[in-house]
Amino acid sequence: MKVLVVGSGGREHALAWRLAQSPRVQTVYVAPGNAGTARDAGLQNVPITDIGELADFAAAQSVGFTVVGPEGPLAAGIVDTFRERGLRIFGPTREAAQLESSKDFAKAFMKRHGIPTADFETFTDAAAAHAYLDERGAPIVIKADGLAAGKGVVVATSLQQAHEAVDAMLVDNRMGSAGARVVIEDFLSGEEASFIVLVDGRHVLPLATSQDHKRLLDGDAGPNTGGMGAYSPAPVVTPRIHARVLREIIMPTVTGMARDGITFTGFLYAGLMIDDQGNPRTLEFNCRMGDPETQPIMARIKSDLAEVFELAIDGHLDRADIAWDRRTALGVVMAAAGYPDDPRRGDAIEGLPADGNGQRDDALVFHAGTIEQDGKVLTNGGRVLCVTALGDSIKIAQSAAYQCAQGIRFPGMQYRRDIGHRALSRKR
Ligand code: AMP
Ligand code: GLY
Repeated sequence: MKVLVVGSGGREHALAWRLAQSPRVQTVYVAPGNAGTARDAGLQNVPITDIGELADFAAAQSVGFTVVGPEGPLAAGIVDTFRERGLRIFGPTREAAQLESSKDFAKAFMKRHGIPTADFETFTDAAAAHAYLDERGAPIVIKADGLAAGKGVVVATSLQQAHEAVDAMLVDNRMGSAGARVVIEDFLSGEEASFIVLVDGRHVLPLATSQDHKRLLDGDAGPNTGGMGAYSPAPVVTPRIHARVLREIIMPTVTGMARDGITFTGFLYAGLMIDDQGNPRTLEFNCRMGDPETQPIMARIKSDLAEVFELAIDGHLDRADIAWDRRTALGVVMAAAGYPDDPRRGDAIEGLPADGNGQRDDALVFHAGTIEQDGKVLTNGGRVLCVTALGDSIKIAQSAAYQCAQGIRFPGMQYRRDIGHRALSRKR
């Protein structure tokens, strides 16, 4: 069977790499892919991003099924288009993708269905938003309603910062239409974790837990990014908390969507804040896998991933099971000069694994913003690579990932030296 993975990041490289290992998969097309997916055996890049053209391609090549990586095509209705044309695809419809594409939709949904999340109000009027800020005080969180590639959230520690964020979004229009409506919500403290499941409309299959590091610099300092590293499992999610998240957040979301007349299919990613008492609350929903969480998660999957997707698309996730490598996987993102504000492109990357399939004995080098030109691999985006390693402990996985990362060089590269520090401080 041929399968199609839509996207070009490290998440898509990891998904495609794992899918290519399925005995039932012959070719994995990646659209548009990157230099890593171009080089891997069994993967083939396809230079298409237009949804209609992707559907034409899937039909012409008799693609068995399609999996979508990023939120953009989902929010633009790729699943609706494919289904209308009788093409098999795993993901949410455009309507269901609102759980991610509109913070206001997601918050109102959670409130209606009693799903634990921070108290909030939604505003389009700046004066009313300012008055609400004065009433609630700081710290407080201001979120652009629409998709903003991880840049639409301001965690304001002072009221002044909060007022500035409201003005930037509602008055100066700095986020465009994504910021024309803002959600203002209470600040939650605790530890974050990523809880990702597959949903077939009714049944749920949880993936291994994970945690990412959103800030650019060591010690979780500096600006927010898409994610500078991740590991799986996340020790903060104890078996008890895992059961609570399924019972209090995931299942009510799936049944709540169905009750609202919007069947949810696809990945459901709950970004959690877990407080000192172990109470989980939802910070956000994504309707896709996390990047870079996918890279360590894929490194740990031992089952046939293509079979899992087929069961999910057929509505039989209750029959699916995933066997996990018991080891910890840890991924370190190597980012370009200037990331996250203005990443530089075109820097030559040295020291990549020679075999070209992204895999070394001890570590996997998943590509993201890379492009091949005249036999050289150049940077082509903010997050460039995610070096991912497995180990019997978080410490061993961390050492293996950093050892591999140290062999790779490009001008201006940035990477954190402390990925995994929260798990390590738990002394597991
Ligand atoms: P979001 O895109 O909604 O997940 O927000 C991005 C990041 O902002 C999260 O990963 C958190 O680190 C932080 N954040 C969002 N909402 C809150 C909140 N209510 N309290 C504290 N931090 C938050
Ligand atoms: N790593 C965070 C995300 O994918 O949204």
